[in-house]
Amino acid sequence: MTEIFEQKSEVLFAADDIKRSVSELGKKINLDYKDKNLLVVGVLKGSFVFMADLLREIDLPLMLDFIKVHSYNKTRSVGEVSFDLDLTYDLKGKDVLVVEDILDTGRTLKNVCDHFSKRHANSIKTAVLLDKPSRRVVDITADYRCFEISDKFVVGYGLDYDEQFRSLPYIAQLMI
Ligand code: PRP
Repeated sequence: MTEIFEQKSEVLFAADDIKRSVSELGKKINLDYKDKNLLVVGVLKGSFVFMADLLREIDLPLMLDFIKVHSYNKTRSVGEVSFDLDLTYDLKGKDVLVVEDILDTGRTLKNVCDHFSKRHANSIKTAVLLDKPSRRVVDITADYRCFEISDKFVVGYGLDYDEQFRSLPYIAQLMI
């Protein structure tokens, strides 16, 4: 695994680029969520690094929660999300910000948002670290995003290849 990485990878976004972009995003969220009832929800596992850094750029009272989902029929677009870990909080009256590492086909985030929309939240928005619009198969656009990328396989900063490389402090393209 390490061999693949050493021979066939290149850095796409260095730690400093990520820090700058996450900080900018935090500033927007600080303005948009002033006087709101913010609940930040991370989608495990991939979002955990982005979420931890983003939260520390948000200078507002907030609550946080996590979910873990899997799609049990990857060929179908909607209604196929199954929760391995559900929210601990009630969404009623909350301004929910769902945080994802990557928006790819869009199925996961669309299903999560559709599911949450039945739970009487005040608002539901999405923040993604990486957006791959060329891969989209369902109609969803992130409200906030750090970087747009083309159809590349990426690892690091929470993203994995076979559960490896999540702890890299930068984002790399893996040529597999
Ligand atoms: C990845 C990523 C998103 C989803 C995006 O999760 O974290 O949740 O895929 O893909 P989509 O837009 O095509 O639905 P993955 O299932 O790899 O789990 P992980 O977060 O544990 O890495």
